[in-house]
Amino acid sequence: MYRTHTCGELRAANVNETVTLAGWVQKVRNLGAMTFIDLRDRYGITQIVVEEHSDEATKAAAAKLGREYVLQVTGKVIERESKNPKMPTGDIEVAATALTILNEAQTPPFTIEEVSDGGDDLRMKYRYLDLRRPPLQRAMILRHKMAQSIRRFLDSEGFLEIETPYLVGSTPEGARDFVVPSRMNPNQFYALPQSPQTLKQLLMVAGYDKYFQIVRCFRDEDLRADRQPEFTQIDCEMSFVEQEDVINVFERWAKYMFKDVLGIEFSEPFRRMPWIEAMEKYGSDKPDLRFGMEFADITDLARGHGFSVFDDAEYICGFAATGCATYTRKQIDALTDYVKRPQVGAKGLIWIRVEEAGVKSSIDKFYSPEEVKAMAEKCGAKAGDMVFILCGKKFKALSQLCALRLEVTQQLGLRDPKKFAPLWVVDFPMFEWDDETERFYAMHHPFTSPKPEDVEFLESDPGRVRANAYDFVCNGTEIGGGSIRIHDAQLQATIFKCLGFTPEKAQEQFGFLMNAFKFGAPPHGGLAFGFDRLCSLFGGVESIRDYIAFPKNNAGRDVMLDAPSTIDQAQLDELFLSLVKPE
Ligand code: AMO
Repeated sequence: MYRTHTCGELRAANVNETVTLAGWVQKVRNLGAMTFIDLRDRYGITQIVVEEHSDEATKAAAAKLGREYVLQVTGKVIERESKNPKMPTGDIEVAATALTILNEAQTPPFTIEEVSDGGDDLRMKYRYLDLRRPPLQRAMILRHKMAQSIRRFLDSEGFLEIETPYLVGSTPEGARDFVVPSRMNPNQFYALPQSPQTLKQLLMVAGYDKYFQIVRCFRDEDLRADRQPEFTQIDCEMSFVEQEDVINVFERWAKYMFKDVLGIEFSEPFRRMPWIEAMEKYGSDKPDLRFGMEFADITDLARGHGFSVFDDAEYICGFAATGCATYTRKQIDALTDYVKRPQVGAKGLIWIRVEEAGVKSSIDKFYSPEEVKAMAEKCGAKAGDMVFILCGKKFKALSQLCALRLEVTQQLGLRDPKKFAPLWVVDFPMFEWDDETERFYAMHHPFTSPKPEDVEFLESDPGRVRANAYDFVCNGTEIGGGSIRIHDAQLQATIFKCLGFTPEKAQEQFGFLMNAFKFGAPPHGGLAFGFDRLCSLFGGVESIRDYIAFPKNNAGRDVMLDAPSTIDQAQLDELFLSLVKPE
C-alpha cells in the first residue's frame, strides 16, 4: 500500500498512530540536527520530521531530497511543539522512520505554492506543474462539484443525458468553424460543432423531450478572458414548452446551483429585463446589476445650444458616478484617455461635477448653470457625484458609456466577486443589422422563433421583430442563452429568406433539419449555459482559463503540447491536401 492517509488528513486525534503518506516535496528545511519536509498532495500539506536519532538510511534519503521529489514516508504521528494554526494539519507532524524516494524531480521552473513566482507563459507551458498548485486544484474541484450538481438536478427533473457527435457539418452560431479533413472522403471536411444546436432539435423531433449534455463546443473566434476556442456548454432542450416553462426550470436550476455549491439562497424571482431596457439603462445586453448608476437619455436637454459635438449627435447619454465629485483633473483625464482607446472608441468625455454649492462642467461655456443642473438631475446625480456624458450613434454611445461605467465601478471597488446579481434578459430583437455587409444577421441563431405578434413585420420591417429568446446574465457576463425554436418548415424558410439565404442555399445547409420538421416536429425550445463561465463566476475569477485543466492561450495555442503544428507530407498526401504559404 502506497499510503494509509492523504497529506491533508491527519489531526491531533491521530497522534501515536503509525502512518504512511505519499506526495510531493514542497519544501525541505535542514536545521542540522533535524530536517523538516513539507509533503504535499491535492488534499493538503503535512510536515514530516527527520530527527537526529532517525536511522542512517532515513537521514541519507532526507539529505538527497529536492523540490517536487515524489516521496513515501512512514512514521509516527506526534504532536507538534510549535503548532501552526494556519494549516489544517498544523497540530501534528510525522516523525519519519522510513523515507522512500519514489521518483526524483528536476527543479521546477516556478514555485508550486499558493502564489507562484512563475509568469503566465511559463505556467501554461508547464500546466501540469501549475495544476499542482492549490488555487488551480480548488478550481478543478469546484468544476467537478458543479458538474455533479448539474447532473443531480437535471436527472431529478427527468432530463436525459445524450451525447451528440463532434464530427459534423457546419452548425451556425456566428463564429468560424474548425474543420477536419476526411481521409475517406477526399476533399471533404467535417466541421466541429459550434454547439449541438441542430442535433438537439433533431432529438426533440425524435421524441426525447428533455435532453441535456455537458458538451464541448468549438468556435474559431477572437479570444478574450471569457472565451476559449473549445469550451464546455451545459446544453439543454425541451419539447412542449413555452419561454416561461424553460425560464422556470432553469431559474430553479440556477437557484439550486447557488445553494448547493455556494450556500447562497435567492428567495425572490430573478429580475427580468427587456433587451431595450438593458441597452438604454446599462449600454449592454449583459448588464452588471451589482451596482446602480443607470444611464439617462439627455438628448433633448443637451441638443440645440450651440455645442456642435452635441448638436450633431444622434444620441446623448450620461450617468452619475456616485461619490466621484472629488475626482481630480488628472483622474478625469485618465478616464478620457480610457474612453478614447480604440477598444472603446469615443471621441471625448464630457463631465459635470455636482456639489452642494452648484454644478461645474466641461461644457459651462455653452449652457447656463440651470441647464447643466437639469442634465445632471436627469442622470440622477446628487451632491457629491460626477456625471459622465458621451454622445454619438445611439447604441455605439451606449456601449461606450457601458465600458466607462464598468471602468469607474472597477476603480471604486464595486465589482465584488462575492456578490451575485443574476437576471434574465428577454425580448431580444430577432435580427441585427450589419452596416458593413448591409444585411441582417440572426441575433441568436437562425432557428429562433419570432414573437407571434411580430411575425407580420418579418418581411416589411425585420428590424422591429422581437424573438422568443432569453439570456441568463450575472455580474455583467452572459452565462447562458436560448430560445423557443421554430418548428414549422414554412416559417423556418421565411426566416432563412430574411437572413439572405436562397432556398437552394438553405436546403443545402439546413435541409436535414427542414426535412425533419416535415415528420412531426413538436414545439420545442431550450438554452445552453457556458460551463466554464459559470465555474469562473462561482469561483470569483474573471478568466475562465483557470477552470479549464488544459486551456489555450490568447493566440489559440496550446503551448504545452505545442499545438497547432505542422503535419508531415505523408499525412497531407493521405488527405489529398497541399499547403499554400501565407503571404
Ligand atoms: P450561445 O452561442 O449563446 O448559444 O452559447 C451559450 C453560452 O456558451 C458560452 N460561450 C462561451 N464560453 C466560452 N468560450 C466561448 N468561446 C463561448 N461562446 C459561448 C456563453 C454562452 O452564453 N445553441 C445556442 C444555445 C441555445 O439556443 O440553446 C448557443 O450555443 O456562456
